[in-house]
Amino acid sequence: MTVASPPSTPPPSTTLPATNGVAASPHRPVIIRTELLRKVYRTGFWLKAAPPSLKHCSLDIYKGETFGLLGPNGAGKTTLLKLLLGIIRPTAGGATLMGQPAGDGQTKAKIGYLPENPYFYDYLTGWEFLSYTAGLFGIKGSAQKRQITYLLDLVQLDVRSAKKKQMRRYSKGMLQRVGMAQALMNDPEIVFLDEPMSGLDPTGRYQVREIILSLKAQGKTLFFNSHVLSDVEMICDRIAILDQGEIVCIGAIKELLGNPDYYKVKGHGGSLDVLDTWLKNISFRDGYWYGTMHGDPFEFMSTMRLMKAQIAKLEVAKPTLEEFFMEQIQQRRSIAAIEQERLARSKAGKKRWGRGGAIAQ
Ligand SMILES: Nc1ncnc2c1ncn2[C@@H]1O[C@H](COP(=O)(O)OP(=O)(O)OP(=O)(O)O)[C@@H](O)[C@H]1O
Ligand SMILES: [Mg+2]
Repeated sequence: MTVASPPSTPPPSTTLPATNGVAASPHRPVIIRTELLRKVYRTGFWLKAAPPSLKHCSLDIYKGETFGLLGPNGAGKTTLLKLLLGIIRPTAGGATLMGQPAGDGQTKAKIGYLPENPYFYDYLTGWEFLSYTAGLFGIKGSAQKRQITYLLDLVQLDVRSAKKKQMRRYSKGMLQRVGMAQALMNDPEIVFLDEPMSGLDPTGRYQVREIILSLKAQGKTLFFNSHVLSDVEMICDRIAILDQGEIVCIGAIKELLGNPDYYKVKGHGGSLDVLDTWLKNISFRDGYWYGTMHGDPFEFMSTMRLMKAQIAKLEVAKPTLEEFFMEQIQQRRSIAAIEQERLARSKAGKKRWGRGGAIAQ
């Protein structure tokens, strides 16, 4: 599967190094940059400020990179995407795309966007809708026909049914494919995809993955939000995890998951009390105990020898992206909870002091 125009830059041959999101890559230019980006929505009749949906977000994305933004529901992923596209304005901070401020008219012509919940005109056929999109980019006549036919083929939609069938009769998967086709209409340099796998069956997900990989091979820059971590793991050069509007971590997947810091252990014998101090998730099966060990394996083995336990297996366990994701979110939340408790205690302390002061006067 290939896309319309030949790549302007050669496909990436190596994984990008992890960065903290602000350091420049020695190999590629920065194509998307956000600096201390912040968004506070104002809602209701009195335009009351909601808690910030995005806080001091600083991020660099490099040309040709496939970047995945992960995060739980409500983390601020769509908000960040909309800020980059200039659909909404930041409360503070700024963003640039190809060196131009987000929302710049000329830059918009070079980007593609698949929204999270695209709205389609029910009574148009897929072809008519794509023809309308092509018109917006000034693609007309035979060039338009060629481009639509090509894109329908790319997203695996039948040309004949795209011409006949109104979109209200399309399945969720078909609509997602039309959405993908419209996002690629202008042969964009940067493609933003908000949950491109959402609502697709395994075949559909596979096809979207293939399309993304083919765009990646052309050197296009891809920025996408996703909850499907297994797909992200397969496709992305780098990821960032966003939680409650804050970037929790950012880097190349390999480097984030890289250093295994725990071991899967199987053994028998020994004292349960001692095992309990070393192992997490202990379970028993066929006369063996199983568990995960976080710590120095040599120290663990000598403790086991001392208590005459036998180790049948000790293997390095590399966390999956899903495990890593859960760990990061839980860690961040427990730190936030401790911080909140500390603040509440110090507020309560100040109040007591205040009351004491008033009595003394
Ligand atoms: N137009 C809006 N007005 C007010 N609040 C909004 C608006 N859009 C988003 N929010 C709030 O901002 C926060 C982040 O929402 P956002 O849609 O960016 O999250 P998300 O990470 O994309 O979530 P999901 O994974 O469910 O798509 C949420 O608390 C949401 O309620
Ligand atoms: Mg979203």
